[in-house]
Amino acid sequence: MCGIVGYVGEDYAVPILLSALERLEYRGYDSAGIAVIEDGKLIVEKKVGKIRELVRALWGKQYKAKIGIGHTRWATHGAPSEKNAHPHTDERMEFAVVHNGIIENYLELKKELENEGRRFSSETDTEVIAHLISKYYEGDLLQAVLKTVKRLKGAFAFAVISVHEPDKIVGVKTGSPLVVGLGKNENFLASDIPAILPYTRNVISLDDGEVAVLTKDSVDIYDFDGVPVSKEVFVVPWDILSAEKGGFKHFMLKEIFEQPKAVADTIGGFLSQDLSFPFDLSKVNRIVTIACGTSYHAGLVGKYWIEKNAGIPVEVIYASEFRYADVPVDENTLVLAISQSGETADTRFAALSAKEKGAAVVGIVNVVGSSLDREADFTLYTHAGPEIGVAATKTFTAQLAVLYLASLLFARRRGRIDREEFYKKVELFSEVTKKMEKVLELSDQIAEVAAKYKKFKDFLYLGRWLNYPIALEGALKLKEISYIHAEGYPAGEMKHGPIALIDENMPVVVIAPQDRVYEKMISNLEEVLSRKGRVISVGFEGDKVLKEKSETFIGIPEVEAEFSPLVTVIPLQLLAYHIADQLGLDVDQPRNLAKTVTVE
Ligand code: M6R
Repeated sequence: MCGIVGYVGEDYAVPILLSALERLEYRGYDSAGIAVIEDGKLIVEKKVGKIRELVRALWGKQYKAKIGIGHTRWATHGAPSEKNAHPHTDERMEFAVVHNGIIENYLELKKELENEGRRFSSETDTEVIAHLISKYYEGDLLQAVLKTVKRLKGAFAFAVISVHEPDKIVGVKTGSPLVVGLGKNENFLASDIPAILPYTRNVISLDDGEVAVLTKDSVDIYDFDGVPVSKEVFVVPWDILSAEKGGFKHFMLKEIFEQPKAVADTIGGFLSQDLSFPFDLSKVNRIVTIACGTSYHAGLVGKYWIEKNAGIPVEVIYASEFRYADVPVDENTLVLAISQSGETADTRFAALSAKEKGAAVVGIVNVVGSSLDREADFTLYTHAGPEIGVAATKTFTAQLAVLYLASLLFARRRGRIDREEFYKKVELFSEVTKKMEKVLELSDQIAEVAAKYKKFKDFLYLGRWLNYPIALEGALKLKEISYIHAEGYPAGEMKHGPIALIDENMPVVVIAPQDRVYEKMISNLEEVLSRKGRVISVGFEGDKVLKEKSETFIGIPEVEAEFSPLVTVIPLQLLAYHIADQLGLDVDQPRNLAKTVTVE
């Protein structure tokens, strides 16, 4: 939620801030703004709407500042408006702040500051930070920030610049992500790595409770007591090309097409990773998977694989529910925390609370160096590359790959399969990428299906067993990018309620590969037909029965039943994509959403 950036160096700051903000726009796009210091004065420019509105507003204004901060907002406190857009300043325009996260005690602080005579100009929680820094400033920006941080409650990151120390940016992290990018005679601050990829791949990930002080020639990190902290620099394995559209109309489409590679790279990465866990896997008698959204759906598929291959019972819980429920976990419980960003607050906080109860936490994460990556006892990585589209696609199939391989690893460590069997199964699994390539060839056909059904207002998605989570995922994709109401359901449950909804206005997407639940799926499909439902089915290309019974049939190549979710999900991603695109919607940045949700 919200993206923050900072630049200090020898180049003009404004174009760098704007281009970095564009790459962070997926984190929020209600309003955007920058603050720079030029000729000893603070200049603030803000605009409601996307970054392009801010870019337009800045046309012709040739700022020469070489230091600045920027922000793209996903509103929490205060409606999207110019006055609530960041950066926020103190009344005297001496300090400017950009902020991501929530200051939980801001009302109390605001009251205190107002009683001292300070006037506020926005409804945001952020503005208290600017006023507090101004209140505590006695000639040392770092010290003023440290005093301020001690007054704040919540999970947040912010960056501040001041006319009093015009060569310096101070960044704070506690709860929300913040990385420092190291350049030559220039340094950067950003909520996420893609923002700074065109400029540097040398990055320091700040930990909670750390403050970074950046000048063009130096980066110093301190803890909240002002004690210097030494940090490792890591080299980001992604290049800028992987964070750009590469000829595709949208990031989402590009990312859908990158899935075979994402899965292949994830398999390669898994096999070359040192998998010595810092805990004894043979003592694990239960796995609890915590995740949100699409990552939760991956966890549901993983449950079937882990229970079958490793024989360990798995419970999958929404991370937001886990934290405030009394789910029993102890030192014999393994918690799998799945999050592509590694920054989702619900998942992180649930993982931390499980850790406190003694459970071992294994993260499944795409962003190396993210908070969850550092907080987990061990991390299994998806190697999907940066995912920019708000709708998760390639990170989902990459998560599936990790979960399948983890199920084999657990099976091997528990003596259920030997080395040879492990590698045989991995080889078989690797073949799935060829099937994924084939399904992508259906994109144009699915665009025609989209044209036929885009006018409908409600969809039902049905699947059983491994494809029940895929029904949930198909429905989520449609909802989030095309704003069409959709429900995912286990097909067998339809007769217990949702069947009442079925009529000729309700397309029903039936996922029915020829597996052990195929016959049951056909019976459920018949139930839909006899209520005049319109069936769009996804099944094996040679399946004449399914084809005949469906109003629209999408034929996918035959695939091992166990691996079918990696293939069946692709037509559903494409269907959602083409519907949203044909409806003229903003596929990569759907309304009300943000790529990374760092608030609870
Ligand atoms: O970064 P995470 O995997 O933790 O994100 C979890 C969800 O916010 C995410 O999957 C969300 O549901 C996506 N927009 C789905 O496309």
